[in-house]
Amino acid sequence: MNRKSLLYNGKSKQIFATESPEYVIMCFKDDETAYYGVKKSTIPNKGALNNMISSLIFQYLEKNGIHTHYVEQLSETEQLCRRATALPLEFIVRNVIAGTLARRLDIEEGTVPKQTIYEICLKSDILRDPLINHYHVEALGLASKENLSDIQNILQTINELLVPTFKKIQIDLIDFKVEFGIDTSGRVMLIDEISPDTARFWDSNSHERLDCDLFRRDLGDIEVAYKEVLTRLENIM
Ligand code: C5P
Repeated sequence: MNRKSLLYNGKSKQIFATESPEYVIMCFKDDETAYYGVKKSTIPNKGALNNMISSLIFQYLEKNGIHTHYVEQLSETEQLCRRATALPLEFIVRNVIAGTLARRLDIEEGTVPKQTIYEICLKSDILRDPLINHYHVEALGLASKENLSDIQNILQTINELLVPTFKKIQIDLIDFKVEFGIDTSGRVMLIDEISPDTARFWDSNSHERLDCDLFRRDLGDIEVAYKEVLTRLENIM
């Protein structure tokens, strides 16, 4: 399978058509961004690390019954993926309060809520990914009631699979963001990536950040932390 026309040029990834209408090639960039693209940098090797980390996680989810777009890794920075129509939404799952939720509600980072918190955001850098709810999604035709119900079940299953898996490698899965698309047969499918760029990983013992907050808050070296996440994952996958 070879790269054809560029279908999407995002902040951290590009999507290319292939000779097959069923498949696309997703290419991870070294560009790092934060605050809706306001803070930018290039971090050598970041694309390759995220490609490997996300590939391992998607393979693990597929093996455990989650329908994902992942087919295979093609090169250091490229994956072959099933084609989907992306929903213009971002779904956030929070096990521990951090980031924008801590700021928005003035709750100390690290507070554990009574239950998992699920959020939906409209995917829009210009509007800064505003928080919306399922009424907005259905009323504005952004996804159907059935799609939303399937997504809620998938989010719960992903979280139940990933929390204990990361715990085994001494990482607390604080929160993560995922995206969904509709595949060529009309079924909801997990797309995009799950990586330290899109999740918060805290070392279970030291509570050190092993994710993009290092870049967002100028706390340390991203490459070292992302390599650490990959090495730990490779030990169990
Ligand atoms: O910044 P916030 O606390 O809302 O982020 C929650 C989670 O979603 C974090 O893991 C963050 O990395 C991820 N996220 C993302 N892309 C966005 C917004 C948040 O991957 N546009």
